[in-house]
Amino acid sequence: MNNNPLKDYIKLCQSRTENALEHRLPSADILPKKLHEAMRYTVLNGGKRMRPLLTYCAGQVLNIPPEALDGPACAVEFIHVYSLIHDDLPAMDDDDLRRGKPTCHIAYDEATAILTGDALQALAFQILAHDPSITTPADHRLKMITALAKASGSQGMVGGQAIDLESVGKKISLPELENMHIHKTGALIRASIQLATLAKPNIDPDTIKNLDHYAKCIGLSFQVKDDILDEESDTETLGKTQGKDQSNAKPTYPALLGLNGAKQKAQELHQQALDSLTIFGSEADLLRALSLYIIERTH
Ligand code: IPE
Ligand code: IPE
Ligand code: MG
Ligand code: MG
Ligand code: MG
Repeated sequence: MNNNPLKDYIKLCQSRTENALEHRLPSADILPKKLHEAMRYTVLNGGKRMRPLLTYCAGQVLNIPPEALDGPACAVEFIHVYSLIHDDLPAMDDDDLRRGKPTCHIAYDEATAILTGDALQALAFQILAHDPSITTPADHRLKMITALAKASGSQGMVGGQAIDLESVGKKISLPELENMHIHKTGALIRASIQLATLAKPNIDPDTIKNLDHYAKCIGLSFQVKDDILDEESDTETLGKTQGKDQSNAKPTYPALLGLNGAKQKAQELHQQALDSLTIFGSEADLLRALSLYIIERTH
C-alpha cells in the first residue's frame, strides 16, 4: 500500500487477520492431516486480505471494535480462498501459481484441492454460526449467514464463475461483462462490508445504503484492475501467471475497452466510491484510501 499515512493501520489489520485466520484453522496434526495441511497452506500464504480489511475498515466507520469482526472477516476470507483454489483448477482457469507459490492442486493433487475448497466453505459458515467474536443477537447472525450464502452461491460468486466459463472465447457485451464481474468478484466484496453492518444492531439505513453503494463500486473496480494487471504486470509481481486471461480467451475490460478505456473505467468507479462516502467524515478515510489502493495496486 503506497498512498497514505494510514498504511500502518492497514498493516495492523492485515496482521490481525493473519492471527485470526491461523487461530480458526484446524491444526495440521488433526486427522485428516493432508487436508488440514492443504487448508493451512492455501490460507496462510500471503494474500492481500482485502476483504477482511474492508470488514474492519467498515467497522471503523460504524464504531465496531475489531474484536467483534474477527469472525466475519475470517469467514469472508475463507470463502475467497476456496474460490481461488477452485478457480485455479484445470477444469477452470488451469493456473499453477497463486500468491507466488504452487496452486493447491499442484502442491497436493486435484482431489485434495477440491476438498480443501469445500472444507473452507463449510468452515466459513460454521464461524458465522458459532464464532464467539460475534456478539450480535441471533437474528443478525442469521442475516450474516444469509448474506454470505447469497454472495457465494449461484446468484453471487459461483454464478459469476459460471458466466465466466460460459463466456470463454465469446465476444460479450459491456453490460454482460459488468454483470459477470459484479457476480464473480463484486458479490463477496460487497458481503465483506455487509457483514460489518450486520455486526451491530440499529444502524441508520442511510449509512447502510451508502456503504453498500461504496462496496458495489469497489467490487467492480477490483476486478477491472485485476484484468488490467493480468495484461500489463508480470508474473513475479503478481504472484500468479501474467497473461492468462488472453491465453484462456477470457472476456475482460481491457479486451473490450482497451487498456486506457479500462483504466478510465476504474478511475470512474473510484470516484463513484468516494461520492458514496460524502456523508461520512474522517472515520471513512480508510475506506477512501482502500478505494484508491484498489485501482493503484501493483498486484
Ligand atoms: C484475486 O483476488 C481474485 C479476484 C477475485 C480478482 P485478490 O487479488 O484479492 O487475491 P489475494 O487474496 O490477494 O491473493
Ligand atoms: C477470479 O477471477 C474470481 C474468483 C476467484 C471468484 P480471476 O480468474 O480473474 O482471478 P485470478 O486472476 O485467477 O486471481
Ligand atoms: Mg477465473
Ligand atoms: Mg483465475
Ligand atoms: Mg484475473
